Amino acid sequence: MLVRRADVAIVVGSQSDWVVMRHTAEILDVFHVNYEARIVSAHRTPDRLFAFAKGAKIAGFKAIIAGAGGAAHLPGMTAALTTVPVFGVPIQSDGFLGQDSLLSMLQMPAGIPVGTLAIGKAGAINAALLVVAMLAVSDNDLSRRLDEWRDRQKNNVAEFPL
Ligand code: RP5
Repeated sequence: MLVRRADVAIVVGSQSDWVVMRHTAEILDVFHVNYEARIVSAHRTPDRLFAFAKGAKIAGFKAIIAGAGGAAHLPGMTAALTTVPVFGVPIQSDGFLGQDSLLSMLQMPAGIPVGTLAIGKAGAINAALLVVAMLAVSDNDLSRRLDEWRDRQKNNVAEFPL
């Protein structure tokens, strides 16, 4: 039996991140983009991180979306271990409202890129939309569905506030 492998991996540093990152999964579902989601903590489960990131290319992932908070090493360490594109979603932290997470991902030194999205839900949604757009470059059907999604979004904007 041919097993359809996922195009996208969603990784989160903790179960607590899923309340935000489930929005990434929901958008990928809308576009019928296959994904696998798993908890991979850079500091609590470093061996799992190495195994996941080093195996990401051979697993067939075309993009990795990583959500993490605080001293958010997960996207940067993942990017250091694979050339599969990594997009980071900073999770809002208790201490610094997610600005710590944001800067951890954003300020990668030259040589190992992490595409960093906005803090929280907006970033989780946009990470999925960005990956859909990336995949759509070589997938006409997906490209059409992205255009239709944009049209629906546009048509749902009321002209006047209630
Ligand atoms: C990070 O620490 C996770 O990404 C999470 O955002 C944060 C807090 O984790 P928990 O203490 O809620 O498990 O590793």
